[in-house]
Order: sequence, then C-alpha cells, then structure tokens
Amino acid sequence: MKSKKANQHDTTKPLSENVHLLRWVNKMAALCNPDRIHWVDGSRAEYDRLCDELVDSGTFIRLNQKKWPGCFLARSDSSDVARVEDRTFICSHSKEAAGSTNNWVNPFDMKKKLRGLFHGSMRGRTMYVLPFSMGPLDSPMSQIGVQLTDSPYVVVSMRIMARIGRKVFKQIDASKKRVVPCLHSVGMPLAKGAQDVSWPCNKEKYIAHFPETREIWSYGSGYGGNALLGKKCFALRIASAMARDEGWMAEHMLILGVENPEGEKTYVAAAFPSACGKTNFAMLIPPKHFSEQGWKVWTVGDDIAWIKPGDDGQLYAINPEAGFFGVAPGTGNKTNPNAMAALSRNSIFTNVALTPDGGVWWEGMTDEPPASAIDWQGNLWTPELAKEKGIKAAHPNSRFTTPAAQCPTIDPDWEKPEGVPISAIIFGGRRATTMPLVYQSFNWSTGVYIGATLGSEMTAAAAGTVGKVRRDPMAMLPFCGYNMGDYFRHWISMQRTLSQTPRIFHVNWFRKDAEGNFLWPGFQENMRILLWIIQRACGRALGKETPIGWVPRYEDIDWTGLDFPKEKFDELQRFDRELWRKEILDHENLFLDLHSHLPKELIYERELLICRM
Ligand code: GTP
Ligand code: SPV
Ligand code: MN
Repeated sequence: MKSKKANQHDTTKPLSENVHLLRWVNKMAALCNPDRIHWVDGSRAEYDRLCDELVDSGTFIRLNQKKWPGCFLARSDSSDVARVEDRTFICSHSKEAAGSTNNWVNPFDMKKKLRGLFHGSMRGRTMYVLPFSMGPLDSPMSQIGVQLTDSPYVVVSMRIMARIGRKVFKQIDASKKRVVPCLHSVGMPLAKGAQDVSWPCNKEKYIAHFPETREIWSYGSGYGGNALLGKKCFALRIASAMARDEGWMAEHMLILGVENPEGEKTYVAAAFPSACGKTNFAMLIPPKHFSEQGWKVWTVGDDIAWIKPGDDGQLYAINPEAGFFGVAPGTGNKTNPNAMAALSRNSIFTNVALTPDGGVWWEGMTDEPPASAIDWQGNLWTPELAKEKGIKAAHPNSRFTTPAAQCPTIDPDWEKPEGVPISAIIFGGRRATTMPLVYQSFNWSTGVYIGATLGSEMTAAAAGTVGKVRRDPMAMLPFCGYNMGDYFRHWISMQRTLSQTPRIFHVNWFRKDAEGNFLWPGFQENMRILLWIIQRACGRALGKETPIGWVPRYEDIDWTGLDFPKEKFDELQRFDRELWRKEILDHENLFLDLHSHLPKELIYERELLICRM
C-alpha cells in the first residue's frame, strides 16, 4: 500500500487549464466545503487505490480474488436501492416545457433549495473532479461532462461505465465542445474524527436537471441512476433535450446486430422499460439450430442509444456507455451466459449476497442455491429462511457493474465513431395480458403511436408499486427531459430526415396463462422472433394483417429445436377485443394528460385504430 501511494501524482493539482472549468470547480468547492479536491486521472493505478480505500472504509468487500478476480461487493443503505422517480425533477423555465409527466420546480427555486443543501455537504470528505465522455472519444456524437462527487464508489463505477480521466480533460482543454456540469453529493458531511458509515446517503433526495442550462445537481443518493450522472441524468434526460434541439434522438434502448450465415449484419434498437429485458436481449445467444447455421448476435449496447440520421438517410446509433449496470437477479448461465462471462472479473456488485467462499450469489444465478449466504443487508440467509419467510438473498434491483469490452459477444464495431445503421426499432413491455408476443406497425407513425402508448408493469428498478401497469412511452417516462408531447412530435418529425425508415415492432416476452405462468420461454428463444423481425425489416418474410398491425403466422417462425405447438402460439398472439378496448381507453388517459402538446398524427392514429377494431 505504502509503495503504491509513493508514486501517486499530486491529485490535488488541476488536470485541466480550462478557465471555465477551474472557476466552476472552485465555486462548487467553496459551496460544498470538502476537505480536499482530487482530480481524477482515470488510470488503473488510481482505480486500484480507490478500491483499496473503499475496502478500508467498509464500503467494499473484496471478493475471493481466485474466483472473482478484480471484483468487489458493496451493500447500500437499505433505503438507497433504486432510482427515486418522485424525487427526480426537470427544472425548465416553464412547467409547460417539462410537461405533465415530469416533476417540475422552477429552476431558481430549485437552485436556491439545493444551494442550501449542498452548503457544507462535503465537509470531511474528498471532492472528486471526474471528467467523462459519453460515447467513444473520437465519435462526433459523443458528449462531455464533468461530475463533482464526494463518492469514491461513484468514481470507480464511472470508470467502468464511461470513458473518464486525463484524455477527457485533454479534450475539454482542446475542443470547444460544451461541457455538462454535474454536481453530486451523498449529502452526509463527516464531522472531524467521526466514524463514517459504509454507505453514506441522506433521507432527503433531489435528482435535479436543468435542461436549458444543461446542468445536473444530484443530492442524497449514492445509487445507480441517481448518482452515476452520465447515465440516466445526462445520457437520457439532458441528452433528450439536446437531441430535440439538434435533430437526433437519445433513447432508452439496447442496440444489437444480427449476423446472417452470409456474414451480413442487421442492427436493431429496442426500448423496453427498466428491468424488462434489454440487457438479456442485447446479449442473446441463438439456440443451437441457428448457431449451427451461422447466425450470430452481436452486442453494441444494453441500455442507452444515441441515434442520428446519417448523410445516406439512414439512422445511425452509438452506445454512449462503456459498461453495463445490469440487473443481477435472473442472470445465470442458462438465461444469459454472456453476462455471466462478462461479470466474472473486474466487476462491482451492489446489493447481491455474499457466499461463504467469498463469492457472490443472487436468485436465478444457479438452480441450486448456496447452503448459506450473507444477504444484501448483511444478515445470515439460508434457503430454508427464504422458504419460510420469503427473504431474498439479493435485492430485486441488485446490480453488476461490468466493462462492456468483457462481453464475449461485444460487436467489433461497438465503438465505431459514426455508429451502426439501424434497420428496426422494437418496443416492448412486461404485460401479463393483452399484448401479443410480436406485431409490426404499418408504418412510422403507427409505430410512433405504438411506442407512445407503450405499457408495462412496474419493476423494482424504481421505488414504487411493483406489478402495476403504467404507460411508459418509448420506455422514457422516467427519462424524458422535456414535455412528452413535444417528444412525440420530435419522433414524428424524425422521419422527414430519413430516406430509409426503420421498421417498428412491438414485443411482449411476459404474457401469462390463467395460472400465472409465462406462456413464452423467452431468453434465447427470443431469437426466433428477432429473426422474423429482421426478415420483415429486409422485406424477406411474410405476415398477416390484423387491426393492430402485421403479425407472423405460425409457419412464418422457425420452430426447429423447440417443441412449441400452434395452439400455444395462437394463445400468445390472441387478440382479445375486450382487453384491447380497455387498452385503448387507457391510451386516452395518457393523451388527455398530454393533450396540449400532442401531435395531431397520434390523435389520428388512435382514431384509425379504433376504426379498424
Ligand atoms: P435495466 O437495466 O433496469 O434498464 O433493465 P433491462 O431492461 O436491461 O432488463 P434485464 O435484461 O436486466 O432483465 C430484467 C429481468 O427480466 C431479469 O430478471 C431477467 O432475468 C428477466 N428477463 C429478461 N429477459 C426475459 C425473457 O425473455 N423472459 C423472461 N421471463 N424474463 C426475462
Ligand atoms: C434503469 O432503471 O433503467 C437502469 C438502472 O438502467 S439505473 O441506472 O439505476 O437507472
Ligand atoms: Mn435502464
């Protein structure tokens, strides 16, 4: 340890000469009053040192390095386990600009409130100056931010999730690219000599966005999307507002490429709400029959896509992230072997269980649970206790933080500066009833209608009622940085810049039978549906017209290797007129909410849908 510290650079010395940046850092330091300032260089040595310190302070548990090389476990405070949507604010100048689906506070009032909270909030702690690039450094679509944070957990996590450090400072100094300032504090100053807790945070939380001035202030939480400000706060909420102004799109979408036996790749982007299957779909391994024929699926991104029209009139997408912050429960060798390989080293686990041999475990990782474990709250857990009291070993929203480059199926083109061409867009939700396994929209505007009215059961990714169906337009309800009606208009208008419009689809892997069992096996079997989608997008597959769109017939899907009778498929695709009537009434509720900004196209689409029914 000592020798490592000896060759450490003086971390208090600024790594940038940009006067605006230096002025802002000084101003925020004067406000937050940290004990010291650390300029993050992004090196492996710095990362290792911070991880050592996190182990010393009790935030990290070093896992068995033989079995889990480079891996750590963090247990959060039990109140700080997910995004907090009711504490998330879009502080545009007018309430109208934020729209009815966002919490709004006047930016001046919010700043005043936050200045009070941030005042002295970093006392006794280090303020890290963390520069990051969302997107590869050499991509014209990338954007730069600097996060000031008093959480070393955030710094090491961001090193996995984004491109950080010296090379970003260099860009800030050299280029005229605007930098998004991000201020973050866990909101728990340390009195002199006081013992720190392993997961500092504050009951009072504010995740505040200022889209006009492009700033983010986050207070009180150390967790995921609340604290890793490059992710949801910047790459979705702020970026969606930038994208509207500049003619591109920032979407809550995975990106994958399907390679056919001839070696041609077709890329699709898919928007599913939080914890509805993006990571799993992005890392899909085709069933044996397809692999043997030479089909492959390549992963570009698992959560966020920045999409822009190219000069050739096609949409191109980049993944602005460099890592995966994936849901642990349900991730296992049977469901997602790619993720299991990726997370086997250099990963940070949050709120999973610790096994007696110094490893990690979560529900769904293996069929056979360990004989005992320490659960995510630090208590003894056994399979018996789980049965008796229903106690989970891992929190349902426990996560792994893993470098994307470690994914065995990472696309060779995943960091291509210009992105990959998108041929199809898929929307999907978690729906026990009503929604078929798959259907295709008639055209772009019916597709936008399908995305706009997307519904899904709520999950543990956000604090709230799990299981309730809510409208989650384009899976962006918690992430759109401006008025949702204007966002729909932006989607409609994107088509005008394109000569090759992606085809739009809707999928539902989660339909259930009367007993509550999933009707569809999901995971790798989703390849069968993905193939129909790809072939439809290339005009190479047949389908049947229905009131809601095009659907495959049983014989349009390749069933080789899966015993899936036609009756079951028909049940999955069944169109229930009564349920659809209710569904469309629910669309009306969303539209009433948004009426003042709703584009006419969507109102007409709804009328046409009702007529077709
Ligand atoms: P965020 O990171 O919150 O945005 O989530 P995500 O959309 O990436 O979801 P993820 O792939 O992590 O999946 C969430 C949960 O759904 C996990 O427990 C998965 O095991 C489960 N899941 C994913 N795909 C399928 C599927 O095809 N069928 C079923 N039944 N479950 C699935
Ligand atoms: C999501 O909730 O959609 C996530 C996890 O991807 S978080 O980063 O916490 O937002
Ligand atoms: Mn997500």
